[in-house]
Amino acid sequence: MDMKRLTYISNFSQPLARNEIERIGEVSVRNNARDGLTGALFCFHDVFYQVIEGEEQAIERCYSRILKDSRHKDIFCLKVEQGVSSRMYGDWAMKTVILEESGEAILVALRNMMDGLSSTHRILERYAPAEILQTMQKGRNPLSENSSMTERVVIFADILASTTLTEVLPAETMALLLADYYEIANAAIVESGGTISKLTGDGLMAHFETGKADSALDASIRIIHRINDLRSRAESHDPRKFLYSGIGISAGRVLEGSIGSDLRKDYTLLGDPVNSAARLESVTRKTGHAIVFDSRFRSLLRKERTLKKLGRYLPKGKTDQLQIFTIPEDAIKFHITSESLRKSIQSLSEPARL
Ligand SMILES: Cc1cc2nc3c(=O)[nH]c(=O)nc-3n(C[C@H](O)[C@H](O)[C@H](O)COP(=O)(O)O)c2cc1C
Repeated sequence: MDMKRLTYISNFSQPLARNEIERIGEVSVRNNARDGLTGALFCFHDVFYQVIEGEEQAIERCYSRILKDSRHKDIFCLKVEQGVSSRMYGDWAMKTVILEESGEAILVALRNMMDGLSSTHRILERYAPAEILQTMQKGRNPLSENSSMTERVVIFADILASTTLTEVLPAETMALLLADYYEIANAAIVESGGTISKLTGDGLMAHFETGKADSALDASIRIIHRINDLRSRAESHDPRKFLYSGIGISAGRVLEGSIGSDLRKDYTLLGDPVNSAARLESVTRKTGHAIVFDSRFRSLLRKERTLKKLGRYLPKGKTDQLQIFTIPEDAIKFHITSESLRKSIQSLSEPARL
């Protein structure tokens, strides 16, 4: 019989006494013996490292209970093996090892290894696409998931005059300015239920389900409002005074999934809405409005709002013109042209350090 094996790492959500850990072990042994599961559970400091193996559906039932358990958090699935033919922990329904208490050299080495593994994965987690982490968290292997055609709202946002900013600002000041920008943009997208598809260096691409089009627009408006706030609080030599963002939004069918070769994969969206959103983002400069979207996106909006038609726009390489729109709000207007923004940045001979 083909089996499944899961390996994950998690953090205690609150300090756990030895008897509480032993209790987890006892319940696990009882349930796993009943369900034909085997494995090992290691703990040290505030980290759990667990391997469970057995019949696929029994593993999924057990893992879904484990995911809901409030005694731990930040569960990060390290490995999902399907089609496993033999058990690694055949003798143990759930061997529970508390590494804290053992001074044996081999256990100390194991503890150090887990410590390293845990911190490396916490780092990699920040660089991995949300979909990949979610798939792994559910105990599925992203390498065996297929790409699929799906409907999405796609957002492109980026910083105006970023090349000039990079030329003028010291590298560490530019890095801090980017961090401010990403903090605002990431938070607004994630708070509204969207996903960051990728960071583009001076901006980002994000996507929403089509049913969340209003949330996507609200997130975009929030990004612009928060950047306006940041700018208005900045002193005259503070580079934040020159932080502006344009946002383009489109919607439609995209190919979504892991794309690439065995050597290197990327989780991405491909298709017309992606190109359109990227083009609309650059159109923001010409229209003088920080948010520009097309009629495909507009048709998904359900909330009562006032929109402004900006006219028609023919994207490069396309034969059909797009009707484009914005939000008629003073805060969404750029009160500076790209040219004068560039000049102001260039005149920042002594930019304040952030
Ligand atoms: C780190 C950790 C590992 C766990 N491992 C298992 C396990 O291997 N098997 C299991 O049945 N429950 C495990 N549990 C407990 C489950 O989350 C859940 O509390 C338990 O399965 C409920 O069992 P009951 O319905 O018999 O009360 C674990 C919990 C934690 C925090």
